[in-house]
Amino acid sequence: MYEKNLLAGRVVLVTGGGTGLGLAMAKKMSELGAGLFLIGRREGPLREAAAEINKAGGECGFATCDVRDAKAVESAVAAAEGHFGRVDTLVNNAAGNFIARTENLSPNAFAAVVGIVLHGTFHCTLALGQRWIAARQPGTVLNIVTTYAQNGSAFVVPSACAKAGVLTMTRSLAVEWAHYGIRLNAIAPGPFPTEGAWSRLIPSKDYEDRLKSANPMKRFGRHDELVHLAVYLISAQSEYINGECVVIDGGQSLRGAGGFHDLVALPDDAWEEIEAARKR
Ligand code: COA
Repeated sequence: MYEKNLLAGRVVLVTGGGTGLGLAMAKKMSELGAGLFLIGRREGPLREAAAEINKAGGECGFATCDVRDAKAVESAVAAAEGHFGRVDTLVNNAAGNFIARTENLSPNAFAAVVGIVLHGTFHCTLALGQRWIAARQPGTVLNIVTTYAQNGSAFVVPSACAKAGVLTMTRSLAVEWAHYGIRLNAIAPGPFPTEGAWSRLIPSKDYEDRLKSANPMKRFGRHDELVHLAVYLISAQSEYINGECVVIDGGQSLRGAGGFHDLVALPDDAWEEIEAARKR
């Protein structure tokens, strides 16, 4: 779909890049010539992901970092600069989420998700934005949000609040920083199966089947579909797109809010089982 060297000379930092959609995006961006720097909390998956990209002929470094910690983000960005000299593009992909009845959430549970998604995105965007502005260097930010960032969603309230914040951050900074040559866009994915998301969000096979059949296209998203959109949005070919949020969900959010509202039908004993499984 793209010219072989579309991203040649570009350095992309992907948060949560060791697994799932973050890794899928990183691999494709590397194939198209970008240097990749992955950050995440767990060293094992990051090391494996970087080795896989390097083995395939790319150039990939990594640093462990919890994006909730602004100082750790500073160190990780410095490590990326140590490796590549600079970073041109930031993909804010790291997320935290789980389904839960909101009345059973602790303040710390809310803070954990908002910390990763909203504060983490801000920390990374700030660390790179400040550098780009000081160096008069253009920069691109891609934020991975979710369809329910627009409308909210039952049973994932911390995530809905945080993703709505990230969407607003995207639109606000797209205006504020455009004159520095920095542009920001977002992708709002519907259901794209990954181990991380499915284990935390899909309570049963039955719910998964219903989710699929409720989608106008009767299927979930394929990773390469999201990856190609991400590549386009960070590429020079999309330079005039700024502050946009592209929904990629098979039309699901047009039919419903794209969230977890249907889980109101889940009986109390099913919720109790979900909660007990987490504590085991
Ligand atoms: N239901 C209710 N509360 C939950 C929960 C759940 N399923 N999972 C965690 N919590 C609560 C914990 O009890 C804790 O609160 P407490 O201290 O008052 O007991 C708080 O959330 C923090 O949990 P903890 O496991 O200590 O935090 P963490 O930083 O290790 O993990 C999460 C953060 C909870 C977001 C975890 O799910 C995670 O690491 N996610 C990253 C990957 C991910 O979510 N991917 C999916 C993206 S779609």
